[in-house]
Amino acid sequence: MTDIPAGGDVRLVGISKTYGNSFTAVHPLDLTVPQGTFFALLGASGCGKTTTLRMIAGLEDPTTGAVLLGDRDVTRVPPHKRPVNTVFQSYALFPHLTIHENVAFGLRRRGIRSVRKQVAEMLDLVQLGDLAGRRPHQLSGGQQQRVAVARALINHPQVLLLDEPLGALDLKLRRRMQLELKRIQTEVGITFIHVTHDQEEALTMADTVAVMNGGRVEQLGAPAELYETPRTPFVARFLGTSNLIGATAVSTAGGEIAATAGDTTLRLPADRCARLPRAGERLLVGVRPEKITLVRAEDADTVPAGRNRLSGTVAAAGFLGVSTQYLVESPVCPPGERLEVYAQNIERDTRLVPGAPVVLHWNPVHTFGLDAEPGTGPESEPGTGPEAEPAADTGAGATAGAGERA
Ligand SMILES: Nc1ncnc2c1ncn2[C@@H]1O[C@H](COP(=O)(O)OP(=O)(O)O)[C@@H](O)[C@H]1O
Ligand SMILES: [Mg+2]
Repeated sequence: MTDIPAGGDVRLVGISKTYGNSFTAVHPLDLTVPQGTFFALLGASGCGKTTTLRMIAGLEDPTTGAVLLGDRDVTRVPPHKRPVNTVFQSYALFPHLTIHENVAFGLRRRGIRSVRKQVAEMLDLVQLGDLAGRRPHQLSGGQQQRVAVARALINHPQVLLLDEPLGALDLKLRRRMQLELKRIQTEVGITFIHVTHDQEEALTMADTVAVMNGGRVEQLGAPAELYETPRTPFVARFLGTSNLIGATAVSTAGGEIAATAGDTTLRLPADRCARLPRAGERLLVGVRPEKITLVRAEDADTVPAGRNRLSGTVAAAGFLGVSTQYLVESPVCPPGERLEVYAQNIERDTRLVPGAPVVLHWNPVHTFGLDAEPGTGPESEPGTGPEAEPAADTGAGATAGAGERA
């Protein structure tokens, strides 16, 4: 089936999909998946992940744009002639065939008779060598999943597409399979494009993650880069938890931005800002919950100088074993919103109970800046709105990472 010479990146050039004549599931998208990498398309249900994958597989005709494998345009190549195989969430194994025959299927279809050695190698790769004689219903969900992977890989595709392949598995098994899939990808060295709505899954396995929202890629990057420096409020909230504090920029000097929130001044590195705000402009100051330290207000003088700090009142504390999660009410939050803090369980301060006045503090370098969303934040009184809106508009263009290479 591999009519196309091996090698090369997967490139999507201006690819889009409109269903009927009005609903656009995928907006024109430029994306390069470097050969041999593990790439994840991450986003909520309905954001266009499966549609994108199906266009790569050739199961869906793009409305505009092209799919390239290496230098070759395969947009008009039918699915079975593309060096691409797909693993679906449902596995789609043949129930009446043994595991051996399920895996041999692709070879037999190509008229290959002696399949024993190749099938045995594939089953070893997915660690199912002992179960070759069983039928799918005699296997666990995770084992069936691995059969589906072996059945796709035996065709030696250049690219393996995986559409929510672990969705049917329970949490513990999913975690095991994440490591297993990563091992297999490293071992065979081909390109994996993995679609999931599960952020942990994407962050654990992928070299590069593209976060999709409403048919567009909002940001693309290595997992740690996306987590540490989200470029849009959507990405900041979709990947883990972010505290986003509405603030007003006052100055930029020495690579550092100062912004006021309530009666506090927060500082953040200019290069961790999605876009440099002008003085007087609104922005969102972001910090992850695990970067924050919480102390009782009466111990505020123990906080080292140079830290960003906010005051507040503990609203809730939840003991999670390895850590404690605190929700803190603060004057800088809009009504109903709370700051979130995770404190590692080393020496727990048992006085940090609901109602306790506290100070939150963190290293300014752990702060990131995002364009303000129109009409948010406690200080979005009349007069600040018109400034906030253009900021959010220009941000969308400046932060689209879809065309970047990993
Ligand atoms: N064949 C189709 N006809 C019309 N709309 C579709 C079709 N397939 C998908 N859609 C719509 O396109 C959007 C994206 O779908 P999909 O790519 O399956 O999302 P995801 O895989 O991210 O959950 C959804 O709103 C979905 O309802
Ligand atoms: Mg889908």
